[in-house]
Amino acid sequence: MRKRSKPVHIYLLGRGIADGVSQMTAEALAAIRKSRLVFDLSGDVRAIRKLHPNVVDLASDYWTGELCDNIYDRLQEMLLDEAKTNGPTISVVVDGHPMVFDDVNWGIVRAGRKRGLNVVALPGISCVDTMMIDLGVDIGDGAQIVHANHLLTHNITLDPHLQTFVFQIGKFGTSFFTRETRANRPGRFTSLVAHLTRFYPPDHVATLIVSGGTRDAVRKRVRLGTLDDARAFLHRHQDDGLTMHIPAYPRAPVNEAFTRAIDDERHLAEIALV
Ligand SMILES: C[S@@+](CC[C@H](N)C(=O)[O-])C[C@H]1O[C@@H](n2cnc3c(N)ncnc32)[C@H](O)[C@@H]1O
Repeated sequence: MRKRSKPVHIYLLGRGIADGVSQMTAEALAAIRKSRLVFDLSGDVRAIRKLHPNVVDLASDYWTGELCDNIYDRLQEMLLDEAKTNGPTISVVVDGHPMVFDDVNWGIVRAGRKRGLNVVALPGISCVDTMMIDLGVDIGDGAQIVHANHLLTHNITLDPHLQTFVFQIGKFGTSFFTRETRANRPGRFTSLVAHLTRFYPPDHVATLIVSGGTRDAVRKRVRLGTLDDARAFLHRHQDDGLTMHIPAYPRAPVNEAFTRAIDDERHLAEIALV
């Protein structure tokens, strides 16, 4: 007899980066169809409404201007309560990959498990996937991904010989989630510049990018030392999904013996049976 699979209380799904649902996987679309209720935080609720008759738009519950942790906790509790009280199955749809830089979804996974709920996250296309194509870079060459505020709160040491993706750069300096600010004041990014130029030269050119998925990306090239001069662009795109990509500062191999060994057949015979 076939074992019955456990009902899923909550699906965590990503809509990808491009507008619409063209970047959703077949399994994510199937999960939506199996849901009785869908909650949208993906930035394109109209596209999700074409997939399901019962979609709740959470945008106004997210952009409240509160501290981000308060927003995350409130949304997490509301979604867990809904699934616990009314039963399977709900879907939560966010932008990108559902588990990349998403504190609400990670909170739902952890707290849901403790409350006996079956929470299933399905992979999606993240901004890292689309930025690699827009920027023409390969994270396989070595990369570090950091939250702009964490660079300072945790005094993060960067390796300049790796490329760096700085997430949430437009929100640097605050944990308040508000769309209400009118402009960035001069100097907002000065402490970030001071941190970054401890590791990369000030004339190293980075790219501020809103990856389009399938549309053209919005981008601006800036020298790290003059990042604060781009504060108007940073303000304009702060809520569009803005990341700073800092390319790796080149270096030659330093371990010559190991560099020779990896191309040497005799060495291979020393480390493996051939
Ligand atoms: C809360 S995270 C969500 C990431 C999303 N779950 C993903 O998988 O791409 C938001 C941050 O992701 C980055 N981001 C989101 N969309 C982006 C885009 N279209 N282009 C570049 N970066 C983006 C920005 O750094 C933004 O501040």
